[in-house]
Amino acid sequence: MKDRPNAVAVDDYKTAMRHVVSPVAVVTYRHADAWEGMTVTAICSATTEPPTLVVCIRNDRPAAERIRTAGAFVVNFLSDEQADIARRFSSTPLDDRGAFDLGTWEEGQAGAPMLDGAVSRFDCVVAQAFTQGSHTVFLGSVVGLRIAPGANLLYRDGFFRRLTAE
Ligand SMILES: Cc1cc2nc3c(=O)[nH]c(=O)nc-3n(C[C@H](O)[C@H](O)[C@H](O)COP(=O)(O)O)c2cc1C
Repeated sequence: MKDRPNAVAVDDYKTAMRHVVSPVAVVTYRHADAWEGMTVTAICSATTEPPTLVVCIRNDRPAAERIRTAGAFVVNFLSDEQADIARRFSSTPLDDRGAFDLGTWEEGQAGAPMLDGAVSRFDCVVAQAFTQGSHTVFLGSVVGLRIAPGANLLYRDGFFRRLTAE
C-alpha cells in the first residue's frame, strides 16, 4: 500500500465546508437541573435501523461534557422563522435561563427542552460518545420525535438562509 496521504490544512477544510449548506439546529440538554442549548450544524442521520443521529460538539465547549453526563439530548431543527433562536444559542452563556424565553419549549422524555414549531425535533439518548480530534461525536438513539410544517433554516458561508424552490 502507498504511504497514507497527509490531511489537508485545517483552514482549507474550513473554507471548503463554508461552501456547504447545512440545516441549523439547537441541541438542548439538561445540566444541574436547568435547560441548556447551543446552535449546531454538524448533525446528520447516522443510521435508520436503529434510528440514530450523529452530532458533533467541540470539546472546548461545556456542552460536550455535559451531554455525556446527561446521557440525553434533543435536536431541534429550526424553521426559517426561528433565526432569532439560532442567534440566541450561538454564543455563551449556554445556561442563561432567559435564552429559553424565545419560543415555546416543553420537556422531552429525559428532561431536555423541545421547541414548538421546530420542523423536526428528535429526543435522543446517547448510544455512543467518542472524541475525534477537536470534537466529541455523539450517536443518539431517537426515542421520540415530532414534525411541524415549515421550511428548514439553513446556514452557508457565514449567513443564515432560506430554502427556495428552483
Ligand atoms: C451556524 C452555527 C453553527 C454551529 N455549529 C456548531 C457545531 O456543529 N458544533 C459545535 O460544537 N459548535 C457549533 N457552533 C458554535 C456554538 O453554537 C457555540 O460555540 C456555542 O453556542 C457557545 O458559544 P461560544 O462559542 O461563544 O462559547 C455553531 C455556531 C453557529 C452560529
